[in-house]
Order: sequence, then structure tokens, then C-alpha cells
Amino acid sequence: MCELYSKQDTLALRGKHIGPSCEIFFAADPIKIVRAQRQYMFDEKGEQYLDCINNVAHVGHCHPEVFKAALKQMELLNTNSRFLHDNIVEYAKRLSATLPEKLSVCYFTNSGSEANDLALRLARQFRDHQDVITLDHAYHGHLSSLIEISPYKFRKGKDIKKEFVHVAPTPDTYRGKYREDHSDPASAYADEVRKIIEEAHNNGRKIAAFIAESMQSCGGQIIPPAGYFQKVAEYVHRAGGVFIADEVQVGFGRVGKHFWSFQMHGEDFVPDIVTMGKPMGNGHPMACVVTTKEIAEAFNSAGVEYFNTYGGNPVSCAVGLAVLDIIENEDLQGNATRVGNYLIELLNKQKAKHTLIGDVRGIGLFIGIDLVKDHEQRTPATAEAQHVIYKMKEKRVLLSVDGPHRNVLKIKPPMCFTEENAKVMVDQLDGILTAVEEAMQAETQSVISENTPCRTKMHKDAHVELLSDSTNDPTENPSRKRNGMCTNKHSLLSKRLKT
Ligand SMILES: Cc1ncc(COP(=O)(O)O)c(C=O)c1O
Repeated sequence: MCELYSKQDTLALRGKHIGPSCEIFFAADPIKIVRAQRQYMFDEKGEQYLDCINNVAHVGHCHPEVFKAALKQMELLNTNSRFLHDNIVEYAKRLSATLPEKLSVCYFTNSGSEANDLALRLARQFRDHQDVITLDHAYHGHLSSLIEISPYKFRKGKDIKKEFVHVAPTPDTYRGKYREDHSDPASAYADEVRKIIEEAHNNGRKIAAFIAESMQSCGGQIIPPAGYFQKVAEYVHRAGGVFIADEVQVGFGRVGKHFWSFQMHGEDFVPDIVTMGKPMGNGHPMACVVTTKEIAEAFNSAGVEYFNTYGGNPVSCAVGLAVLDIIENEDLQGNATRVGNYLIELLNKQKAKHTLIGDVRGIGLFIGIDLVKDHEQRTPATAEAQHVIYKMKEKRVLLSVDGPHRNVLKIKPPMCFTEENAKVMVDQLDGILTAVEEAMQAETQSVISENTPCRTKMHKDAHVELLSDSTNDPTENPSRKRNGMCTNKHSLLSKRLKT
């Protein structure tokens, strides 16, 4: 039996007993998922959904080897890490082998938030500095210490930026301060960090850390330009601070060629602290902070012992070991590269066809589709993006939107996602975008005729919520062919990382 309550009762109970600010996917029409397998989720009626958003179920939902490893260890022992146990040391050894040599000391936690909170403690203890530089639109977790350094959250709420927090511009070469037409966006964005450090020093403040995701996820699937991290690390080190790479979303081989996303930036870039979580336990709460011996020893010298009841327990580590084995045995990194490249190829063809697609960016199975109302201004197509994900849901494909304007379709599926899955997803997207564009075009035409003889080209915001579903005939948009909007003007951005 998969259900205790009818969907209606579940909704009612959730409304009564679960905090109203607790986020839910598709809030206007939530789905009830009762089971999942590999890259598929099933609702209470047995309807199958293609999961393009769950980067936690990294090796696939309910992988039998993960389940077996957990069960086997649960039958034997589960306890805290104050007893000697082989699983924690074996896991730490295996994990360290995936990282550059200097990153060899692990602290286990239960969530990405705990990992980032501990990373801040390590950084602050290291040189007794307090200030943190974070990127605009970043999200690093739900603890108070992390909301403080997460502009994604504190800019939306009533919280004001704390004086020890410094926000650097997101190194976004599509809609950020320095774009693909800039001769050296990496240096320009890194200079912003350098200026922040100088200003902080002028005000008598000291930088403890720069923290960034190796690729920004909530911020809209942003890939920093090549060379940016090296320059930032240089400035931050010079100021006595450390570089924290948040790999909570993007680690464990998601980018394909590399196990860690920061490795895309080249061997000459090594963070001082790496935090990880989500995919690590494939849904089991497991997270970690990895750092250098030097930083760990400074933390130890404070004389405060670190203890975390559940972090690194034998069951979590057994699960983590199974995940590492599966990534290797099933060549999931190879799959991420193959399927990711194929998906990006398909999406670039869609970009050439659909005016709504302003940018397709991504590496491996971490991809963003930036929807825009116009290619010149890159005006975010926020309402359209919302409409698209709800329509995709009707087609049984789960996508989400994010970014500061909530106009970026996010793709980060379980790593067993196939080329066939990619094709299904793109075909459905094609049909929906065609329908939205036709409706927008029709609206423009009606505005033009209403305003004749002015013949204004301006169209009103698309009232996409009201659009009918005409996606059964996903043919090319004839009006777009007529007006010559099918050209692919925004070819691959030259300043981006090439992997
Ligand atoms: C980049 C990043 N860091 C940290 C966290 C916090 O992880 P958790 O929700 O496991 O506490 C998240 C969660 O979404 C995240 O996206």
C-alpha cells in the first residue's frame, strides 16, 4: 500500500500541520508522488513522470544496491562516530581519492546546510577573520548562518545584509554585469571581488572566506568564465581568507568529465574547503566538509571538540560507499557526458527554432534554458517559464524554474537519464514552446491591428496562464519563419569554460 490518505486529504493535512512557508513543487497544482524507480516517479494513480529535476536521487531513485547496503548495515549496527568503525574511515579514504591531494580531512554532517555552516566555522577559526564574500543570487542553506550569506533568500525577505557579508556580482556572462562581448569577463568579475576586499580592508574588516558554488544553481545555472576562480582565490588568499567551493548540488560526477565541478576550472585551481551533500547519500541524509590538514589543525587548536550525533554513522557511510561504487560501476560520469552533450545539441536546435529560448548553458547533466521575451534586451520570460513547467507536468515531464527572475528552466536529472529520455523531454518542450509563441504572436498581431495605422511592434505581456493547450501539433511556428526570427544569433559563448 503506497497511500495512507486520498490526495485531497493529504493536501488538507499538509495545509493544517506543515508550516505554510515549506516549499512545494507546482504549488498551484501539486503532485502526490508515492514511489520512484531510476529516473521515473509515479503518482498515486500510477502515472509515470520523467524526473528531470532530482539531483539528489543521483544514481537513480531507489537503487537496489543502495537499499541493500543500508539494510545490511542497519541489521548489524548503527551508532554515532565516537566509536571506531571501518565504514567512516573507508568512506573518507575513498572520498579523498576523488579530490586533489591537499583536500584530505573530512567532517561528516547530515545536510548541505550543516556542511556549509561548519565550513564557515573552519574558515573563521583559521585566521580569526570574520567576513564572508558571497555571490549575488547565491543559496547556501537554510541555517541562520547561511541565510545571512544567501542573497537568494535575504534579498527576498525582511532580513538586511549583515555588515560582515559582502556580495560580489554573479559571474554570469549572459545577463550579468560583464557579458560574452567583454574581452575578459573572468578578470572583470574577479576585479569586483578584489575591490570588495580593498574596501573591507579600508573599513578595518578582515576576510575569512569567499564562498561560491562551482556552478551556481539557484542563481540560474550559471557557469563562471574560465580563469575566474583562480583570480578570486589569489585575491582571497592574499587577504588571509579561504576559498569554499559549495558542491552540494553539482558534485559527484554530474559534470561528466570531472568528479567535482570545480575541477573544470583546471588543475591550478584547488579550493581550501569543499562542501557536499544532496547526491552523496542518494536521498539518505548525508553530507560532508573536506579541507586541508592545516585548516583542520587550526580548528582543533581552538580546543573545542566537534561532535555530530548522526554525521558519518555506519549506515550513512555504507550508503555513501554504495553510491561511489555505482557511479563507477555504471559509468555514470560517462553517461552524464554522453547524454548531456546530446541534450545540449538538441536544445541548441530548439534555440535556433524558438525565440523564447535566449540561452542554453550547461555541462554534463546540469543544464539551464534561459527563456526571454526578446533577444536584444534579454527580458526574462518569467510567466512563460512558469507556464512551460506546468504544461510539461501535464505531459508527465518534471522540470523546475529558478534564477533571480525565475525564468530559467533547470535540468538536473538522476545520472541514469538516457538519450531517449532527453529526446522525449525536448520533443515535449518543443510542442509547448511552439504553442506559447503562437499565442504570443497572435496577441502581437491583435495589438498591431488595434493600433493601426501606428503599427507598433510592442506586444503586451503574454497572458500565458490563459493559453489553451495546442501542443498536439508541434510543428514549426510559421509566423516566426516569416519574420526571419529563426536564425541562431546567440551561438555558443566563447568565454565559457570548455570541458
Ligand atoms: C548550493 C546549495 N548549498 C547548500 C544547500 C543546503 O543543503 P540542505 O538542503 O541539504 O541543507 C543547498 C540546498 O538546496 C544548495 O542548493
